[in-house]
Amino acid sequence: MIIFKDEVVKLLKNQIDFLKEEDISALVEVPPSYDMGDYAFPTFRLAKEFKKSPNIIAEELANKFSEDENFEKVENAGPYVNFFINKSKLIESVLREIKDKNGDYGSSDMGQDKTVIVEFSSPNIAKPFHIGHIRTTVIGNSLNRIYKFLGYNTIAINHLGDYGTQFGMLISAYKKWGDREVIESNPIQELLKLYVRFNSEAENDTSMRDEARHWFKELEDGNIEAVELWQWIRDISLREFNRVYDLLNIKFDSYAGESFYSDKMPRVINELKEKGLLEESKGAQIVDLEPYGMPPALIRKSDGSTLYTTRDIAAAIYRKETYNFHKNLYVVASQQNLHFKSWIKVIELMGYDWANDCQHIPFGMVSLEDGTLSTRKGRVVFLEDVLKKAVESTAKIIEERNPNLENKEEVAKQVGIGAILFQELFNQRIKDYVFNWDRTLSFDGETGPYVQYTHARATSLLEKGEFQIDDNIDYGLLNTEDEINISRLLYDFPRVVIDACDKNEPYFITRHIVEIAKAFNKFYNSTPIIVDDVELRKSRLSLVYSAKTVIKTGLSLLGIEAPLKM
Ligand code: ARG
Repeated sequence: MIIFKDEVVKLLKNQIDFLKEEDISALVEVPPSYDMGDYAFPTFRLAKEFKKSPNIIAEELANKFSEDENFEKVENAGPYVNFFINKSKLIESVLREIKDKNGDYGSSDMGQDKTVIVEFSSPNIAKPFHIGHIRTTVIGNSLNRIYKFLGYNTIAINHLGDYGTQFGMLISAYKKWGDREVIESNPIQELLKLYVRFNSEAENDTSMRDEARHWFKELEDGNIEAVELWQWIRDISLREFNRVYDLLNIKFDSYAGESFYSDKMPRVINELKEKGLLEESKGAQIVDLEPYGMPPALIRKSDGSTLYTTRDIAAAIYRKETYNFHKNLYVVASQQNLHFKSWIKVIELMGYDWANDCQHIPFGMVSLEDGTLSTRKGRVVFLEDVLKKAVESTAKIIEERNPNLENKEEVAKQVGIGAILFQELFNQRIKDYVFNWDRTLSFDGETGPYVQYTHARATSLLEKGEFQIDDNIDYGLLNTEDEINISRLLYDFPRVVIDACDKNEPYFITRHIVEIAKAFNKFYNSTPIIVDDVELRKSRLSLVYSAKTVIKTGLSLLGIEAPLKM
């Protein structure tokens, strides 16, 4: 594909000797609207060297470039040189590339030989997997797909919350009141009940707290009964979680959660000691972070048990040694900003030069329209229920709109779940948002169903027009404004994917494919596509094919499927 920006830089470089190509490239801008050109180059930096005013320089440069075949027009506007891409070159170049890449358009090998860890989802076992977990799960899955698409070797890790004093409580509670069969039949609810009961009774009975501590210590020390109970709780919880992952079509490469690091903690503590970082404070051991304006990092409690922070430090070191990551990303709510800042600082103080390759990717809160979500108040909305409700509601809509559709159930699942994912990935991560059923499931406006529907419409056009992709397409027949607009958006897609990766923001892709869908529908309404003229039909269908292909790729980077019919 012709990279027009590179062509701009090449032309400029021929005239500007004293600047390096990278510097010129950094100066090239994308103007706010297309009537100011596709690229603009400001000449202020040249004034001193050329001993002329920026306006004159811009004018002279523009004149030199006016004959170049890649640009239909190069002109100056004051001190800027504005480049207008040759549209037929653009259309031909991008549509050929999409055809040649055969579904992989936008992918790259820029990540070759680099490993990126994407840690996401990471729910706590024996606790509900609730709507609050949707964000980390969905954003993380998308990032994992984006990095993979750009050639990185990715490792998706579910850092399960499967360790800590609360398991001492659960074991005690189970030994007092638990019934295996009851729990097996409804694991999370029943375990939650045990946990809540234990907490409320322990309020009046301090010995219960000691008992819980005792059982956690036993677990840490490998007591068989404790370990077996814990293992069982972990297994049944994971079984529950996996139902959601299956619905979302999410797979992890590793479920090494907090417990996995229990035997790797002594090493961390020794290392901290040797490096002179560990201090006593009220019987506990800490790393002082006051010089960095943070509260101390708690490494070890007075009873010897380790903490969340210690496990994160151990996990990062383990991951570096095991995977030699280029980046280690943590898709975790912004409430944990301080936690991440703090332990990453500890890693840095330990002298690890890769400390800042560990990056917290924070996000804001999701709430329901009737108030915020809270596990403590017992108003738990299970993620699985939300997903199922979306599928059921979509099934009803399909029943009304298209009762004869084949594979109705499968499509309802793809569209219902797609709608939730799309909504979730529509905004900047850090923004809080309110979950709204009507907006999510609507087939109009900037929604998942709208984009999926556009994809299905394109698919059926290709079928109706009996389109065969081959080399005999006269791209020169595509030249209307609507055709140019789609092509331009398709041309920009690879850059959008790279931006999404650079900023860890899947929503760039979400918004871009909405724009493609809108441009496509505008074209569809303005232009007869299945016309008698065979060549014309073929060229228009090749644009349909290209839009369809890129929409599908974009959706898949968000973790959303693209049904052929809806
Ligand atoms: N299990 C934690 C929670 O539900 C999230 C874990 C985040 N990851 C980490 N490495 N600390 O809040």
